[in-house]
Amino acid sequence: MNVQKGLKGIVAAETLIGHVDGENGELIYRGYEIRELTKSYSFEEVAYLLWYGYLPDEGQLQGLKDELKRNRELPEYLIKIIDLLPPSMDMMSVIRTVISAEGGNSEYEGIATISHAIRLTSLVPTIIAYRKSQIEGRLFEHPRDDLDHVSNYLYMLTGEVPLEAHVEALESYMLLTLEHGMNASTFSARVTVSTESDIVSGVTSAIGTMKGPLHGGAPSGVIDLLNEIALAGDAEKVIREKIMRGEKLMGFGHRVYKTRDPRAIALKTKLLELVGEDEWLDLAMKVEEVAIRVLEELKPGRSLYTNVEFYAAAIMKALEMEPELFTPTFTASRMVGWTAHILEQAENNTIFRPQSKYIGVLK
Ligand SMILES: CC(C)(COP(=O)(O)OP(=O)(O)OC[C@H]1O[C@@H](n2cnc3c(N)ncnc32)[C@H](O)[C@@H]1OP(=O)(O)O)[C@@H](O)C(=O)NCCC(=O)NCCS
Repeated sequence: MNVQKGLKGIVAAETLIGHVDGENGELIYRGYEIRELTKSYSFEEVAYLLWYGYLPDEGQLQGLKDELKRNRELPEYLIKIIDLLPPSMDMMSVIRTVISAEGGNSEYEGIATISHAIRLTSLVPTIIAYRKSQIEGRLFEHPRDDLDHVSNYLYMLTGEVPLEAHVEALESYMLLTLEHGMNASTFSARVTVSTESDIVSGVTSAIGTMKGPLHGGAPSGVIDLLNEIALAGDAEKVIREKIMRGEKLMGFGHRVYKTRDPRAIALKTKLLELVGEDEWLDLAMKVEEVAIRVLEELKPGRSLYTNVEFYAAAIMKALEMEPELFTPTFTASRMVGWTAHILEQAENNTIFRPQSKYIGVLK
């Protein structure tokens, strides 16, 4: 019996949604190169592409924008649930709990639909913003119908209509992280619905998986790494010692990309446009250069490069977003990919059921 720990290299499904080309460092959504999509399309257009399989015309785009707006407000019972949660509960656990409770809505009975996907995608930014306002003890800024998805999210977080440059930066990040093949959280979602469970259970599983530091939790680890290096004043020493101790450097390495992560390249470009000269960005670029060199020396042949989380952390810092919001924001965008995969899994379902090899003794 051959054991493939972590299912490394195993192809467990066919998909029309996205392609991660790890050797050439390319990411494709429904046939379109991600670099091209981030240049000219909005969050709503690319979400439409992922759900429906083609880019929308003007009327279809307006229809999606309207539907997202109609679903933004939290129903009263979800607000009550958030109000009852302990203040110490972290934001990912709050999202997981509230989305799970949203499953009590009879709307989700029967087969999963794109309307369900739209509603779930629409709710996440409001859950995050409402919880943030509640923790900070200030008035909640209700969603604004004159703002699109990304700018409304920033508006709800800050209470101010965001700068165009900030919307563009966050929109690039969100577009680059909408979908990424059979990553751990998408796999969780597909496993859950492969039992013919419902879409809300699927995304609830995915949120729980996303929370872990090796997946969605990495960006806050990147900030910790950069802060530690800034404090120590010697990037090479800190990095070397961490690797020698067997620690993983947050923001580096990837299961599929064995070259530079194209999302990291795109985000770095965006960041340079956004902030220009900046001490913190200079530190990030210096750490990137040193880390890649030291990883190559101490872990030869493992092809460890910067991943999306490294520059995601830098973008969010430039937007003055607190580290506690990094993974939740990733969740807000990946909800699109999860739901697209859930719909695809349901169309041609086979239950996921790998085997394990017993290594205990027979008594
Ligand atoms: C993403 C990740 C989980 C991929 O893991 P993986 O494909 O299972 O790769 P492995 O953990 O088997 O690593 C292979 C080797 O590279 C090393 N390695 C991988 N990522 C590393 C990192 N970030 N820092 C230091 N060493 C790393 C491992 O220690 C291992 O070394 P070994 O052969 O001496 O045992 C892993 O690279 C990681 O934990 N990165 C940091 C967290 C992160 O940034 N996550 C966001 C991903 S988008």
